[in-house]
Amino acid sequence: MAQGLRLVLFGPPGAGKGTQAQLLRDRLKITHISSGDLFRHHLGQGTPLGLRAKEYMNKGELVPDEITIDIILDKVMSVADGDGFILDGFPRNPHQAEALEKALAGKSWILNKVVHIEVSEPELLRRLGGRYVCRGCQSPHSIGEGEDAATKKCDQCGGELYQRDDDGPEAVKKRIQVYNDETMPVLGFYRKRGVLADISGDNTVDEVNKQVMAALGA
Ligand code: AP5
Ligand code: MG
Repeated sequence: MAQGLRLVLFGPPGAGKGTQAQLLRDRLKITHISSGDLFRHHLGQGTPLGLRAKEYMNKGELVPDEITIDIILDKVMSVADGDGFILDGFPRNPHQAEALEKALAGKSWILNKVVHIEVSEPELLRRLGGRYVCRGCQSPHSIGEGEDAATKKCDQCGGELYQRDDDGPEAVKKRIQVYNDETMPVLGFYRKRGVLADISGDNTVDEVNKQVMAALGA
């Protein structure tokens, strides 16, 4: 099943896309392609692309399609024929979804599943407020109230943890609004194609993972 599995993880900021993508990558041995991680990697390296993306990311807006689509499709197209991928954070508007569909068709590939993780807004705000990300491998971590983030290291690679610039209250509010206005219409696109699975993300990480695996038939 995992071989050649081509999957999109879809959901609002803080839904757990990165968390679930990492679990699926390790379990199913398929490539994880995260548009946000890629932009943050470029930003960390100080590349022109990273600096350009930062202008939009810090305000909670989408990075323009003319920057985003080529760089992500390049990654997708470099996945070997028999291997699979998990897209996390892409597509984020109907234009990106159409560009992805066209690129996949060029290789006679189809998306096997789009898993939509739904989480209530109060829970999204709670999770993003306590999220710390590894500067090295970008794994997300939750730091609870009363815990001291400065004493914690990444549980995947031992790297330093930091809070994303776009996890402040203003940017989070904007990201949720952008998700509702620009990204949600993509759900209709995939519903029509019969590949959409809606699952509840208002559960523990393990419970959500069970639901994702069930949606994949794995
Ligand atoms: P991106 O990095 O994709 O951010 P996002 O979509 O806002 O999603 P997040 O990464 O914030 O959340 P997540 O769903 O991955 O949750 P996580 O697993 O970390 O994009 C950032 C920006 O880049 C965009 O705003 C835009 O500017 C730009 N961009 C990216 N892609 C683009 C595109 N395609 N087009 C244009 N611009 C683009 O979990 C969150 C927290 O909750 C963590 O602390 C985690 O430990 C915790 N958690 C996870 N699951 C659970 C659970 N079940 N129970 C309790 N806690 C949980
Ligand atoms: Mg993420």
